[in-house]
Amino acid sequence: MDKKFSLTDGMEYHKAGNFELADEIYLSLQNLDPYNVKLLCLRGLVAQSINQPDKAIELFLKANVLHPADFNIQLQLGITYSQMGEINLSNLFYEKAMALAPNAIEPLVNYGNNLCKLKLFDKAFGAYQKALALEPTSSRLNYNIGTLFLNKMDPDGAIKWLETAVTLDPIYTSAWNSLGAALTETDDLHGALVAYQKASSLDPEFIEPLFNQHAIYIDLGMADQVIDVLQKAIAIDENNNTLKFFLGMAHQYYGENAKGAALIDSISKNAEIYPEISSWNYLQNEFFSNPKLVGTNTKTIQIAIDAAKLDGLNLEFGVFNGKSIRRIALLINEDIHGFDSFEGLPESWNDEPKGSYSAEGFLPEVPKNVVLHKGWFNETLPGFIREFKAPIRFLHIDCDLYSSTKTILDLLAPKIIAGTVIVFDEFIGYKSWDKDEFKAFEEAVQRYGWKYELLTFSFVTKQVALIIK
Ligand SMILES: C[S@@+](CC[C@H](N)C(=O)[O-])C[C@H]1O[C@@H](n2cnc3c(N)ncnc32)[C@H](O)[C@@H]1O
Repeated sequence: MDKKFSLTDGMEYHKAGNFELADEIYLSLQNLDPYNVKLLCLRGLVAQSINQPDKAIELFLKANVLHPADFNIQLQLGITYSQMGEINLSNLFYEKAMALAPNAIEPLVNYGNNLCKLKLFDKAFGAYQKALALEPTSSRLNYNIGTLFLNKMDPDGAIKWLETAVTLDPIYTSAWNSLGAALTETDDLHGALVAYQKASSLDPEFIEPLFNQHAIYIDLGMADQVIDVLQKAIAIDENNNTLKFFLGMAHQYYGENAKGAALIDSISKNAEIYPEISSWNYLQNEFFSNPKLVGTNTKTIQIAIDAAKLDGLNLEFGVFNGKSIRRIALLINEDIHGFDSFEGLPESWNDEPKGSYSAEGFLPEVPKNVVLHKGWFNETLPGFIREFKAPIRFLHIDCDLYSSTKTILDLLAPKIIAGTVIVFDEFIGYKSWDKDEFKAFEEAVQRYGWKYELLTFSFVTKQVALIIK
């Protein structure tokens, strides 16, 4: 570097986003002063900004050796490790930062965000609450807590936080969108629509609330609006094949077969859309029973329960935090039995490692008409079957895995009779759709000679409801 630059020059370039020049200046100064912590940190920040986390870590670690009690260095190490997906290491540094500056918001919030990624929701809630005590009117914190409740499948819990977030900041687009999601889950479809529309009006280029509106319009029976919002979403992202699939499928479902088929054909060579297209092909062979296209979880459950007329048992497999079983319990006047280890998935499933959805052995709060059976299905079911002789009226299977679904269907086969209604929570339109609940069911159909009719299907929720004939 010929010209002499000062630290201020470097920082000016840095601020203006000219990271390359800023780094050159910092480096030339650093060569003269190798142990200058400020320069090491500034270069670390540049490396962070240009997505060179390894280099950033190296620089921040050097700075850390020189100034082990510097809060900001610990914070930046936490941020960079998080950028690299090294969540546990990241949290180690956030913990150090929090110890050095207990009243700083940023490490607390970042620590909470990391804990959410690890699905340690209760611990994350603790971190967010500490941050909220320091900044009670933070819309961002209320939003983070709201999304935490959504992720831990507690939409009722989410609503109050998200409502606070949009009250504190009425132009908080993501908070409006998440509020829409929470209201959808609690079956307030009109409230959800208002929230999504608000998000879309604040940011017309934001695809998610448009997509979410289409699910609500499906359940409100507003076909024209379903098509309209999907078309708007595609106008924003013309190469989005998933949206095109949803639009093509909706055209076909609502009677514009040629139009829909042509659209789906135009994207059919793309491997990424194979799960949707292959399960749509499967479903169309089942259309003799005229199943209903559904947009939301609650609608699927409602239709399934309405169709379940047998005198018999109501069962759910996969209870976790109790979101779905609480909903079902509200809709039936009888008992519902819920089965779960409460220790999470016994095997990995797609990107979810073994143990995902663990409630750490704790049972959720449930209404009086819910009876919980804690343990692995193959251990709890035989005793239950000996005790309860009735056939099955309503069966909700939400355990994701082929092996768990096979266990359930094989053990319950004698109780699955004409009139039994089954909802599968993970059945169509996702990466391994034909290897999980679907596969276990298709094999059971062959093994036990069941005939069935589809009642509903949803590419939004991946669910189907069906009735054994
Ligand atoms: C996706 S979660 C269920 C979500 C739940 N329906 C809700 O609304 O929050 C899947 C659950 O299945 C349970 N599970 C899966 N296989 C199991 C098995 N073989 N025995 C017991 N529980 C199992 C896991 O513990 C986990 O809680």
